[in-house]
Amino acid sequence: RKPVTLQRLLDMHAAGEKIAMLTAYDATFAHAMEDAGVDSILIGDSLGNVVQGLQTTVPVTLDAMVYHTECVARARRLAWILADLPYGTYHESPQVAWRNAMRLAQAGAHMVKLEGGGWTTGTVRFLTERGIPVCAHLGLTPQTVTALSGYKVQGRDEAGAAQIRAHARELVDAGAQMLLLEMVPAALAGELTRTLGVPVIGIGAGAECSGQVLVMHDMLGVGSGRKPRFVRDFMRGAASVGEAFARYVADVKSGAFPAPEHSY
Ligand code: KIV
Ligand code: NA
Repeated sequence: RKPVTLQRLLDMHAAGEKIAMLTAYDATFAHAMEDAGVDSILIGDSLGNVVQGLQTTVPVTLDAMVYHTECVARARRLAWILADLPYGTYHESPQVAWRNAMRLAQAGAHMVKLEGGGWTTGTVRFLTERGIPVCAHLGLTPQTVTALSGYKVQGRDEAGAAQIRAHARELVDAGAQMLLLEMVPAALAGELTRTLGVPVIGIGAGAECSGQVLVMHDMLGVGSGRKPRFVRDFMRGAASVGEAFARYVADVKSGAFPAPEHSY
């Protein structure tokens, strides 16, 4: 295996070779994910929930994201490293977004991820024109969960689906080189995967996406509280955390995960 590049991700997408992504927040777990053959590691602002014990990702700071990105990057060998721009770091202006994205890039991120469509388009263009690869996150966007009135499926009705479709097209036209879809109907995610021309990574978005992502704590079965429908506990029947990561990679690659019961 060779280091994963943007071109390699585009080739995998074009060839229908599934992309296995997991979140990590530290060097030890990132190292084990590298051993297991994970293609991409996301330093998610979900660290607010699973590391910091926060109720939402809204209070997560850029400094926290930089710190955890540095921790993961030290263990990086081949994986494509994505880091989330947290709430408030890309909302003010493209210039502020670029300054903050640069800090994540300096910490070791190859790509930054930001939530939302429409108002984010100009910022995505500004970043990508300046050489910062961007993943756009649509569907359920946890940073605005309060405005969305909770964690629920997005794009179920025709108007919602049309908006996600329009935002996705606009973001890709503006330069986004990856799309992450969270909690959207499998049929909509499949359609976007076939038509957008960039890899689509799903979480609760069905099996037709170019790849999948899960929060590490969830897929290791150590999440507290209610388990979302789209999570599978890969520690079940695994003898070690490393084996759980390897089974996740194998099941994403084969298409065994996600199954219909994990999808909407
Ligand atoms: O922060 C995160 O872990 C994420 C994934 C759930 C996609 O954004
Ligand atoms: Na996130």
